[in-house]
Amino acid sequence: MTEYTVVMVRHGESEWNKANKFCGWFNADLSPKGKEEANAAGKALKDSGYSFDLAYTSVLTRANETLDAILGELGQKSIPIKKSWRLNERHYGGLTGLNKAETAKKYGDAQVLTWRRSFDVPPPQMGSDHEYYDIINKDERYKDVSSEDMPSCESLELTIKRALPYWSEEIVPNIKAGKKIIIAAHGNSLRGIVKYLDEISDKDIMELNLPTGIPFYYKLDENMKPIVSMQFLGDAETVAKAMAAVAAQGKSK
Ligand code: 3PG
Repeated sequence: MTEYTVVMVRHGESEWNKANKFCGWFNADLSPKGKEEANAAGKALKDSGYSFDLAYTSVLTRANETLDAILGELGQKSIPIKKSWRLNERHYGGLTGLNKAETAKKYGDAQVLTWRRSFDVPPPQMGSDHEYYDIINKDERYKDVSSEDMPSCESLELTIKRALPYWSEEIVPNIKAGKKIIIAAHGNSLRGIVKYLDEISDKDIMELNLPTGIPFYYKLDENMKPIVSMQFLGDAETVAKAMAAVAAQGKSK
């Protein structure tokens, strides 16, 4: 039976993860801890014998730098890297830049959980008067994104709608061509791909919190159905703690 392995990793901790701010399409850098996580991810992949032919990432620096650190550890900086806005974090709209715990104090834990983890409820839109509107909308990296495609906020459902065509039309053909692939992206763009691969229900996906900087792999059959789902390269306790910490970011205390 044909079996393909694909590795995915959420970027290491960003400066805005550290400050517990809704980040989305804001281009936050990796924090020093995030850089360490990215290096550790590369070492873990190296120790497990991974090498790659092709890498995918978003157009956001925190994912790009994570990939760069991983490829550096693997001695594979020269492999082709394809970047797409379709792998970006979900756009956090009007919440961008707000502290998650303070937002939970103001609107309640349940509302913040809905904004962060519901399948189809988007956060409020980012209006043109928003502090980060121009920084994001006038960013050169989006010059080829059509005005219809440029979001002002995204639910997970909308994130999946723009990420999945890239998975199906760009990444899958290369997996099927036998290329060994790594995808360095974001909490919610990867949750979208994982939801699709594992056919996770709209309700159950609310429980999934991806930790920063811990790679995981899938083994897929020739129809891209998982033979092995989401196996982290890390011990179960560390992964569980990191997932719980991500979940807790949206709580008022
Ligand atoms: C962000 O964009 O703020 C985070 O990277 C992902 O946020 P979430 O875990 O609150 O969805």
